[in-house]
Amino acid sequence: LVLPKTPLNKRIIKIIIVGDSTVGKTSLMNQYVIKRFSEVYRVTIGADYMAKNINIDGKLMTLQIWDKAGWECYFSEEAAFYSEADCCILVYDITSCKSFENLKSLKEKILSLRNDKTDVNFPFIVVGNKVDREDERKISSEIARQWCRENGNIPFYETSAKEYINIDNAFMMIARNVLMHA
Ligand code: GTP
Ligand code: MG
Repeated sequence: LVLPKTPLNKRIIKIIIVGDSTVGKTSLMNQYVIKRFSEVYRVTIGADYMAKNINIDGKLMTLQIWDKAGWECYFSEEAAFYSEADCCILVYDITSCKSFENLKSLKEKILSLRNDKTDVNFPFIVVGNKVDREDERKISSEIARQWCRENGNIPFYETSAKEYINIDNAFMMIARNVLMHA
């Protein structure tokens, strides 16, 4: 009997996806992990997760992707949720000013609720989702990119969960960032 070897360099990266309700957090996770998209909105309650194995520069990693409900009232264990994360994807909807404006307080809340408050290197990326709805765009790429520069040089992507635009790139970037900070 030959048991499969567990690669010594295998590691789990915990990614949390946060942002206002309906920006497309669950849709991004579903597209990335199971290549599925639904127009039908089903609200996330509490938090949900999916795992995906990826190979980054020869290292086998498991991404554990946690999708948090946008409606805050549903979720009581926020501090633990943030503290256990290795990195965070901040999502807004390019057709919603409010979802973009909320990123700042969301980011501050996450940093303040994390146990390790000294961790100034906690990796974020910002994702502007729904680029397939260009006609209804409210937040320009330039405005968002500038905000990311001013808030700690956060990597920035515009995505569409619907049309599978830039999703792999965004997840790959944040996984790489975690490895760099490890
Ligand atoms: P909560 O669970 O309430 O926090 O929302 P969420 O951020 O998980 O949003 P969800 O992924 O459920 O998507 C909300 C709605 O937006 C659904 O109807 C999706 O079909 C739609 N949606 C998500 N991503 C996209 C996208 O890239 N383009 C378009 N056109 N619609 C999208
Ligand atoms: Mg959801």
